Amino acid sequence: MRQMSGISTFFTSLIAEAIGLPADAFDRFFDADQQHKLKIVKYPDGGDGVGQGVGPHKDSMLTSYLLQASAHRGLQAQNTAGEWIDCPPVPGTLVVAIGQGLEALTGGVCASTTHRVLSPAQGQGARYSIPFFQGVSYDARFESMDVPEEVRALRRDVLALSGGRRDDVEFTFVKGRWGHLGEATLMNRIKSHPDVGERWYPQLLAQIRAQQAEEAEAKTNGATSSQSFAGQTRTDQVSRRSKHTDGRVACR
Ligand SMILES: [Fe+2]
Repeated sequence: MRQMSGISTFFTSLIAEAIGLPADAFDRFFDADQQHKLKIVKYPDGGDGVGQGVGPHKDSMLTSYLLQASAHRGLQAQNTAGEWIDCPPVPGTLVVAIGQGLEALTGGVCASTTHRVLSPAQGQGARYSIPFFQGVSYDARFESMDVPEEVRALRRDVLALSGGRRDDVEFTFVKGRWGHLGEATLMNRIKSHPDVGERWYPQLLAQIRAQQAEEAEAKTNGATSSQSFAGQTRTDQVSRRSKHTDGRVACR
């Protein structure tokens, strides 16, 4: 974990430099002894485990790193045109995914990676992978980084060339929706694991479902979802409730 912590901090410093920021620009979003997450995942093949891949999603924080520990294909990422691209295992490498926190901080210059995992076909045996999720300080706030205008323009050019971004997953780290990056991360995890939310965070899950219902209604009415959920009072309520429960999420 310590090694990966160092690699992830170094890698985000390279990202900062690549987009015209000082190398230490992201350092303030990390705690001195930042907590990260790592898990070992088994995807059974098409026998009993059929359908146990992972649906399209974006990771939460700044960056995550995946070791594909067996030779199976299965990981796919979505490009700007909306096409799913295979990410076959390459020995001695890690796959790096950009998280929604980084997209929020850079105003979309670093677009979060939409990805999914397909289960191995029957008879291929189980696929194993080991993802490392770089943590971020719970209290880190949504900020707009000073990404130079010429770099922002490059991103706009890419989108213009491809006719906009086609993405199967909604971007949920909208500024104004949640107070802190850590809070947005917690809500994203509850949204991804509603069974865990039912048991441990029923009030927060109820808020997420209310938000989803509002967004669905706003879409139907042609309004933007962010306008429909910009209420400061609700954000404050979530902040108070989620702060004292955050430790339990970190333990699982
Ligand atoms: Fe992921």
